[in-house]
Amino acid sequence: MKTVRTKKSLSRLSRSWHEAGQSVALVPTMGYLHEGHLSLVRLARKKADRVVVSVFVNPTQFGPNEDFAKYPRDEKRDFALLAAEGVDAVFAPTPQEMYGADATVRVVESSLSKTMCGAFRPIHFSGVMTVVLKLFNASRCDVAVFGEKDAQQLSVIRRMVRDLDVPVKIVGAPLVREADGLARSSRNVYLSEGERARALSLSAGLDKAREDWLRGNESAARAVATVRKAIGKKADKIDYVVAVDPDTLEPVAKLERGTLVAVAAWFGSTRLIDNHFLRR
Ligand code: PAF
Repeated sequence: MKTVRTKKSLSRLSRSWHEAGQSVALVPTMGYLHEGHLSLVRLARKKADRVVVSVFVNPTQFGPNEDFAKYPRDEKRDFALLAAEGVDAVFAPTPQEMYGADATVRVVESSLSKTMCGAFRPIHFSGVMTVVLKLFNASRCDVAVFGEKDAQQLSVIRRMVRDLDVPVKIVGAPLVREADGLARSSRNVYLSEGERARALSLSAGLDKAREDWLRGNESAARAVATVRKAIGKKADKIDYVVAVDPDTLEPVAKLERGTLVAVAAWFGSTRLIDNHFLRR
């Protein structure tokens, strides 16, 4: 596995693969890898001849009072995990390499990125889209894989690619859970034992709403109420529970196959997200 630190060397490497007739998949991550990330890598392997994983804690997607400084990092462990997966190259730039000191351009989306997490994290998706577009440009990837765990991020990136004619195929990968149902997240390490136990209410609530739908419930309001009731007093604060169209992120009245039921809630000082795309 090659370790690449500059955008220029990544572009050069990708160009050499393309010249040899090989396609390139990118898996963007912020590191501190877990089984969820590794499942994205395995899917990327099926989609292209070469796999690049970026490991970059992107400062522009964190608000001033968010966890950028304390976001967990372990480059050595990440690289070992990626090498074991047979990844072709890991791209791990510094913030200075990624962003010019006098950069003044950001990608802005004016609808999907304003709801759900965007209503609580106003600059987040602009930072995500900007870094993702820069990673696409540096890696010259043909395909990029993102987890459905970050369902809103996936919708926003699909919209960016559509509206800016970005020639990259976006692939969504299913959310991966711990054995007890907690959605895998690098932020789970912040949880105390008690908070972690209470956080299981997220998957429990979403499961209940899905089972209710499978039994015939079509009311989105009822699904939202079911999730809210399950999380109830277990969470310290609920940011939102929604049932939305996965493409537009507009609230729906009637549940359908593919409807996104999503939640964000706080357990202590940790904000967790979770979701179900309604499937049989
Ligand atoms: O999902 C993440 O880890 C990040 O938002 C991403 C896509 C790597 C951009 O920094």
